[in-house]
Amino acid sequence: MTESDQLRFWRAQFGNEYTRRGTHAAAHLRERAALWAPIIAALAGAPPTSILEVGANIGNNLRALRQLTDAELFAVEPNAMARDLLITDQVIPAANVHDGHAAAMDLPDAAIDLVFTSGVLIHVHPDDLAESCREIHRVASRYIACIEYFADQPREVPYRGHAERLFTRDFGSFWLDLFPDLETVDYGFIWKRLTGHDNLTWWLFRK
Ligand SMILES: C[S@@+](CC[C@H](N)C(=O)[O-])C[C@H]1O[C@@H](n2cnc3c(N)ncnc32)[C@H](O)[C@@H]1O
Repeated sequence: MTESDQLRFWRAQFGNEYTRRGTHAAAHLRERAALWAPIIAALAGAPPTSILEVGANIGNNLRALRQLTDAELFAVEPNAMARDLLITDQVIPAANVHDGHAAAMDLPDAAIDLVFTSGVLIHVHPDDLAESCREIHRVASRYIACIEYFADQPREVPYRGHAERLFTRDFGSFWLDLFPDLETVDYGFIWKRLTGHDNLTWWLFRK
């Protein structure tokens, strides 16, 4: 796959500026932990021993997950500055930080128990979405989680003054329609008004 305009955007200046703005203040990590609490609870019967975040940026989900699970943590991230921070801040070991993107990950089939995205599929062009989901599905052995903006119908939304950089839809249905071997474990809504996050929808699927 040739690299998309969206991916180049995240690898270059926009991605660097986004990464520099990132904060992992304690209050922010508490909000992340609260977001993950119901997902981790839904996994309680058969918890993952390895978790991969695709598009981890500075690793705020991984930092929260470190407190919530004993699973070994991995990241795939296209932006070099963000990958460096994951390593220098010791979020996860350097060997577990991979240069790549959702549609191209240098990991074997079924390598990781739980693979997830958070605010990443929204930045994948609709033409590349199925290929990205196929790659995530290939690497995940037991679970896939998806935390993204929801819309009933696919639509593009202006993103920080840029066109063609944010696309929302019913990602849960996209996953289920593409992969008949997935079943929904649980899903939920994170309400901006009470949580400190944007309005997010999460899905947890079992393979
Ligand atoms: C909005 S940030 C979300 C960061 C993090 N997942 C979170 O929830 O805080 C999007 C991240 O995904 C990365 N990214 C963009 N396109 C990607 C793709 N196609 N595959 C994997 N990561 C991507 C960006 O470099 C950036 O770090």
